[in-house]
Amino acid sequence: MAQEVRGVVAPGKDEPVRIETIVIPDPGPGEAVVDIQACGVCHTDLHYKQGGISDDYPFLLGHEAAGVVESVGEGVTDVAPGDFVILNWRAVCGKCRACRRGRPWYCFDTHNAKQKMTIASTGQELTPALGIGAFAEKTLVAAGQCTKVDPKVSPAVAGLLGCGVMAGIGAAINTGNVGRGDSVAVIGCGGVGDAAIAGAVLAGAVKIIAVDINDRKLQKARTLGATHTVNSKETDPVEAIREITGGFGADVVIDAVGRPETYRQAFYARDLAGTVVLVGVPTPEMKLELPLLDVFGRGGSLKSSWYGDCLPSRDFPMLIDLHLQGRLPLDAFVTETIQLDQVEQAFERMQHGDVLRSVVEF
Ligand code: APR
Ligand code: ZN
Ligand code: ZN
Repeated sequence: MAQEVRGVVAPGKDEPVRIETIVIPDPGPGEAVVDIQACGVCHTDLHYKQGGISDDYPFLLGHEAAGVVESVGEGVTDVAPGDFVILNWRAVCGKCRACRRGRPWYCFDTHNAKQKMTIASTGQELTPALGIGAFAEKTLVAAGQCTKVDPKVSPAVAGLLGCGVMAGIGAAINTGNVGRGDSVAVIGCGGVGDAAIAGAVLAGAVKIIAVDINDRKLQKARTLGATHTVNSKETDPVEAIREITGGFGADVVIDAVGRPETYRQAFYARDLAGTVVLVGVPTPEMKLELPLLDVFGRGGSLKSSWYGDCLPSRDFPMLIDLHLQGRLPLDAFVTETIQLDQVEQAFERMQHGDVLRSVVEF
């Protein structure tokens, strides 16, 4: 039987979000209905509302979520009702070239839920943000978007791995392949950059240099494991990083801002043969100019990190276990917990840069 729940809908470009009654269909083949317990507020939700991602309004927002599987459709074997799961953006196919080559985060045949959730009063079909739509008491997803993790973790913490925090940790441990003894610099210490710092700690980096234009962000970065901080409004970060690393540059530099000027800093702040990881998301009009001779002469690798190049089934349970053992301070990313009807205010606070994450708890 289809059921009705409350959810946060972005009705049209730049219009305020509102709470609507949403109709959730019973799960079809390969689908699951998840009882959402927590969902973080991310920049991407705001971009959906503002019209930066797609024009398929109305959107059911929310995508950094954890909850309990309520029911599953035909053929679902990997998860069962009662399982505590973290949701991810895309159920990968396992068969395309990207999947077969071990890079499923570039899968080009992803399967999200086929059935549509609708607004009860108008019957309008909803587009779920990043294929999830979890600012709602329940949501419908593909079963492949659900990854079981240890239910001892708090849902607010678990949901973080659904997006930004996983992107940051993965930029360090997966894409950047940070190793024991490495020096790492992270440019931009918001949620993504701070998570990259936590990832660098996990990976055994010795020097972890946080770069930001805001001193408060740098203080927070220290609590997550940054050993050095550089305010790049006051000090040239390339010089500073070179000095801290004995004149060489960092083994891995992570750009968690995603602008031409921060990328250029990352490019020149790495050691010869070092790695640059771009995890901040640039906008379409941004262009980068670099002397090709420097690209040639400095060697190493220039990489970008997509959702932290994560494999949910491998990375989510591992990171939750590390957190439960006290070795990964994921709770530091939850600045506040809020109610479903406070998402609009959370967007405002996010734009002021006051929070790492506001998390809706149900
Ligand atoms: N140099 C250094 N730091 C900068 C600069 C700059 N030129 N510009 C901004 N920052 C800092 C901000 O002060 C802030 O601490 O970068 C941080 C960005 O943090 P958030 O706005 O919280 O963004 P976050 O969620 O971490 O995402 C970072 O990844 O997902 C993408 O769209 C997102 O591009 C963004 C990036
Ligand atoms: Zn695939
Ligand atoms: Zn997100």
